[in-house]
Amino acid sequence: MKRIFSGVQPTGNLHLGNYLGAIRNWVKLQQEGTECIYGIMNLHAITVPIAPEALKKAIYEVAAALIACGIDPKKSIIFQQSSVAAHSELAWILSCHTPLGWLNRMTQFKEKSGKHKENALLGLYGYPVLMAADVLGYKATHVPVGEDQKQHIELMRDIAGAFNRAYSSDYFPLPEPLILGTGTRVMSLRDGTKKMSKSDESDYSRINLTDDAEAIDLKFRKAKSDTMEGLSYEPETRPEAANLINIFAALANTTPEAVVKEYGGRNFSDFKKALSALAIEQLSPITSLMRELMKDVSYIDAVLKEGAEKANKLAAKYLKEIQEIVGFVTPE
Ligand code: AMP
Ligand code: TRP
Repeated sequence: MKRIFSGVQPTGNLHLGNYLGAIRNWVKLQQEGTECIYGIMNLHAITVPIAPEALKKAIYEVAAALIACGIDPKKSIIFQQSSVAAHSELAWILSCHTPLGWLNRMTQFKEKSGKHKENALLGLYGYPVLMAADVLGYKATHVPVGEDQKQHIELMRDIAGAFNRAYSSDYFPLPEPLILGTGTRVMSLRDGTKKMSKSDESDYSRINLTDDAEAIDLKFRKAKSDTMEGLSYEPETRPEAANLINIFAALANTTPEAVVKEYGGRNFSDFKKALSALAIEQLSPITSLMRELMKDVSYIDAVLKEGAEKANKLAAKYLKEIQEIVGFVTPE
């Protein structure tokens, strides 16, 4: 049986990379009729400092974005991670099957923990184990994510294998990453070698899902380009141009080659105009629906409540089975 699980952290500034690398694919998978579970990963969000008010706002914003992008709460489960206690409990059990050597290889930890490793938090170090629990806790088989999450999914497969071997079982399926389309690694608009990120201090580096048409237009106009004549797709030597071409291709559901064929002879500013018109056309319905939803969060609350109930039912059943495998007792 195929079951999809994925999640996004509520840390503010949902952007075009989140949309093209992840959320847009989640909508497609839902339309294929597969069972889909999408989480707002607030336990992951607190692995770096975040103010409670900002966290709360981001949780609602992510829920609004998922609904506005087309995730239908009647078809898919949308829920907040902390509402399902099984995530934390399974994370503990799995952490007892995860060697430190595996965690030491994680590039995200190396990047986020900074220079002074002894000050890094245990939660940030254990982040990938919690992520394994998110997916394995539903026995999910496929995980649609952007390119940057590939290493975490490989680790979760290793953890599932270690658990299965330890208890001579084949309890956990090994989840497959689904890294789909041309927008799996959208780069910063200020630096074509850095990925577009929620935490970049320059707002000009990303297109936020909350940006209006004017802001989108201005950001593409100001996006870094190079001084070479015309448009060509050369990711190694022209990373900024390649990024804009990739974004265009992803939005237009075509290939970078087809984009270059169409715009190759034109200058950068014409291409940027066409790109910003395309982005505005696709993003503005999402942005306005998000705004509507954020005006009164009672609908979002209802969606999250129902999602948590459905997710809990599944996860609690599996957690009980896992506890039995490990040798815990359930006093009747
Ligand atoms: P995060 O914002 O880190 O919670 O990521 C949520 C989802 O968006 C994950 O599947 C990421 O892989 C994806 N994602 C984040 N940033 C980018 C990016 N710049 N390009 C493509 N996908 C991204
Ligand atoms: N780590 C993911 C990210 O930053 C978010 C996430 C948490 C996730 N748990 C997950 C993604 C489980 C997929 C499956 O993008």
